Amino acid sequence: MFEHDGPYTVNPVSGALGAEISGIDLGAELDDYLVAELRRALLEYGVIFFRDQHLDTDAHKLLAKKFGEIFVHPFFVYGDDPEVVTIVREPGDTRIVGEDWHIDTAMMPEPPMGAIMVAIEVSDYGGDTLFANQYLAYEALSEGMKFLLQDLKAINSDRLVAGPGAATRSANRTTKARTDVGWEETISIHPVVRTHPETGRKSLFVNHSYTVGFAGMSEEESKPLLGWLMDWGHRPEFTCRFRWGKGSVAFWDNRCTKHIAVDDVHNHRRVMRRIQIAGDRPY
Ligand code: SIN
Repeated sequence: MFEHDGPYTVNPVSGALGAEISGIDLGAELDDYLVAELRRALLEYGVIFFRDQHLDTDAHKLLAKKFGEIFVHPFFVYGDDPEVVTIVREPGDTRIVGEDWHIDTAMMPEPPMGAIMVAIEVSDYGGDTLFANQYLAYEALSEGMKFLLQDLKAINSDRLVAGPGAATRSANRTTKARTDVGWEETISIHPVVRTHPETGRKSLFVNHSYTVGFAGMSEEESKPLLGWLMDWGHRPEFTCRFRWGKGSVAFWDNRCTKHIAVDDVHNHRRVMRRIQIAGDRPY
């Protein structure tokens, strides 16, 4: 239970993670007290949701900057503002951004601490986003598996989602990643189990979009355990599911959660505006 005496309500959306907060206008400049309360809620629930917000791009940026520097996405082909990624899914698209369970941009030396996403256009059904709590995924492992993972490091690359090798993904969707020959792969080695810099808790830090193997092992050797860990991390009891409405906002902690977008809006359009917040090097 989230104890507070503010003029708002905080309602958990599942037993694993996620809480919906109402009574806060994110478009109004938040005072230090509310920013601290939202950070506390984010740390407790991993992802926080809001409904019926009116955030234009400037207000969205202002909100993000209350929590850190804006992170510029390295491989999306964006419009004229590199600080903003607009994720558009048009009728007819057969691939979408975020179609696999992932931790955002995990191949960066310092992956973002989180992201704030606003629903601009939604359909009457579908297009939900699922989140999974990676603290729980770690804590539910056996002591033997925790021991095995304690010093293991993983190679994270963006070659599965950007660059010439990922050209078909982008060819079949409206929001594109760079696939040109000038694109250069980014690789970072991160611990398989990271420690959250603010809560001190340990979480699993591997994901389908970016983690390609364990450091010091071949991809073939890595596959069985890595595949198992990545799938384990989104068992239903570690997850929550968010149904978007126009003006809904999700703010997730990218250091201890992963997420996936569901492509079931069929012949409808879905538009999201996302701003990421800079993070630090996992340890
Ligand atoms: C993302 O992976 O950041 C996008 C998720 C979504 O569109 O639901």
